[in-house]
Amino acid sequence: MERIILAVESSCDETAAAVVKNGREVLSNIISSQIPIHERYGGVVPEIASRNHVLNLPGVIDRALLEAGCSFCDLSAIAVTYGPGLVGALLTGVSAAKAIAAARGLPLVAVNHIHGHIAANYIAHPDLKPPFVCLVASGGHSHIVHVKGYTEFEILGRTRDDAAGEAFDKIARVLGLGYPGGPKLEKLAETGNSEAVSFPRVTFGEDCYDFSFSGVKTAVINYIHRQEQLGQEICKADLAASFQRAVVEALTEHTFLAARARNCPVVTLAGGVSANGALRKSFEAAAEKAGAKLYYPPLVLCTDNAAMIGCAGYYLYEQGIFADSALNAVPGLKL
Ligand code: KG4
Ligand code: ZN
Repeated sequence: MERIILAVESSCDETAAAVVKNGREVLSNIISSQIPIHERYGGVVPEIASRNHVLNLPGVIDRALLEAGCSFCDLSAIAVTYGPGLVGALLTGVSAAKAIAAARGLPLVAVNHIHGHIAANYIAHPDLKPPFVCLVASGGHSHIVHVKGYTEFEILGRTRDDAAGEAFDKIARVLGLGYPGGPKLEKLAETGNSEAVSFPRVTFGEDCYDFSFSGVKTAVINYIHRQEQLGQEICKADLAASFQRAVVEALTEHTFLAARARNCPVVTLAGGVSANGALRKSFEAAAEKAGAKLYYPPLVLCTDNAAMIGCAGYYLYEQGIFADSALNAVPGLKL
């Protein structure tokens, strides 16, 4: 039977809606980015994000249905991100989804945003099935997840402090690159020497795959101050490339160690940071060395979007995991 799901995503600064058929076929994927609005503040202002979601959601949902050639009558369910994320931003999407579900008598599916990022890989790779190990690296989280089933997860490693994307954004700001920092830092790093400066790597013992990125961040800032005190010029491109190498190497090494420990020959990437070319290359090299199969989503499915929420929502729907009108936003939701 055909299952058509309308999905809504509003956990941070993207207002998004998508229509997804049978989990993996994306009929529409509308993303309204608020980057131009937040750019002048150098980062996402939560209150402004919420207000713009309220303004954008009706139009984004209408467009998603229109582009998919669907009406509310064709839908099997509404899926929505209910956490983790900014509480006000999440609430706008949750409220919209609950209103549609109530008005149209449709089942409501509550989706964890991290589950959504992992599911982006199912859309991009029709042959991909669990089990596999996935690195979810974005602005809010850096998790190594053992995906045991479509709705069954075990966290093998996580960051103890900053998320990888957060570190990219902070260093980009220090280097005066502006917001959003990740892509801008990557671009600058392309012209730099990644061996120019050696930054510390943090590990927590043999069987621990956790990350720490705040030390690298402080080391970069200290390096800049030291050079300034010495009156020496800083090559921003070298610094960006060296910082990127430190983060990419940590993400790659820990993920492949975790996959090896679980005897898992399939590795995937997800989340905004997986748009990073250096990270993809590093994962490709590591996968080849380990004899593992590597999957990652196309750029549009790496960063926040609603198609991935529709896909994750489909698997929850299939297992009869529904929410009701008491659904609330959970900003600190765990996987
Ligand atoms: O998944 P996402 O859109 O939102 C969250 O769930 O957080 O990820 C956004 C994060 C930001 O920190 C952004 O700087 C980072 O992903 N990012 C990148 C790149 N593109 C986005 N980081 C490094 N290189 C990139 N090319
Ligand atoms: Zn995200």
